[in-house]
Amino acid sequence: MTMGYDFRFTHFEHDHLITAFTTSWSAPSNIALVKYWGKKEVQIPCNPSVSFTLRECRTQTTIQFDLQSSKKEEILFSIQYEGQPAPSFAPKITEFLKRIKPYVPFLTHYHLTIDTCNTFPHSSGIASSASSMAALAAGIVALEEKLNPSLTKEEQTNKCSFLARLGSGSAARSVEGPIILWGNHPESPNSSDLFGVKLAVYDNVFASYHDTVLLVDQGQKIVSSTVGHNLMHNHLYAATRFEQARENYSQLLKIFSKGDLVAFVDLVEQEALSLHAMMLTSSPSYLLMQPNTLRIIEEVRSFRKKSGLHLAFTLDAGANVHLLYPDAEAEKTRRFIEKNLRQYCQDNALIHDRVGMGIKNT
Ligand code: DP6
Repeated sequence: MTMGYDFRFTHFEHDHLITAFTTSWSAPSNIALVKYWGKKEVQIPCNPSVSFTLRECRTQTTIQFDLQSSKKEEILFSIQYEGQPAPSFAPKITEFLKRIKPYVPFLTHYHLTIDTCNTFPHSSGIASSASSMAALAAGIVALEEKLNPSLTKEEQTNKCSFLARLGSGSAARSVEGPIILWGNHPESPNSSDLFGVKLAVYDNVFASYHDTVLLVDQGQKIVSSTVGHNLMHNHLYAATRFEQARENYSQLLKIFSKGDLVAFVDLVEQEALSLHAMMLTSSPSYLLMQPNTLRIIEEVRSFRKKSGLHLAFTLDAGANVHLLYPDAEAEKTRRFIEKNLRQYCQDNALIHDRVGMGIKNT
């Protein structure tokens, strides 16, 4: 039991289960401002993280649930990506279904046919685990709601984030928008390590922010997130880093309520570089930025000085750069991106995205 919710689904009998159900969901990716890097068993973050939910980078997933003649030991499924069998996705989904089984035991009576695709290229270097796990969780909660119509909207949302988290931590932040906190923090009494919650107070300038993703490297991730998070076990700077993130969350609350764009830039860039500093100083160490990542960072900082605008960069665990800027500055910023930064992208590829609102039933 957490926050008044029991995430375990208890009351059902095989005879009362519906025989077939198909549901389709679209879930967005998100970009962390305060980064999640370091976790405990099972999928509990070492520090709170905050993200902008995105609008355009999404996963679209249809699940067909077919009732089996009897209960099975494991949850059975088949997976297709863009209409083709996708066995390479199976291990992650198997692990996810194993983890969520105690909370959705009715699924052992079903076979799941999962059909999924992304709005962004799978090989673009954009992490799809957040959007894909959130979309999968949304479909599963839709079946739970069919079986238990008394589930409130809030319970559905929290359960969706709770299940998504068990697939991928950052997926807990992809269920709602525009700004999501995942992880306990004393200044936000509704916060939880188990699911994401909406931030209640923010200046509206942030809800209409843009995120242009510069695709510096469209290859596969060099360090998987599981390996990456594990690098924080016994990391010399781990305790300081977790404390920094907690402190940055407190600062961000002030920035959000005041609409302080200058402080926002400083904080977001410090978070991105701290994340990479952790990787640079871990054992083994990883250097995930590429020469073009650094060129972009230099250009962004010099553009800011010259223009007085509030363009900020942030990074995930890779070479790509997310450029964050307010809507009122979008035109000038876009011109600069096209003229100075697009050249640093692999195949000149970038994605214009914006802050968005979370999962959609499609
Ligand atoms: C650098 O959510 O991908 O993007 O829980 O192992 O699936 P798992 O990790 P994941 O980690 C995301 C790390 C990050 C920062 C962030 O999104 O907060």
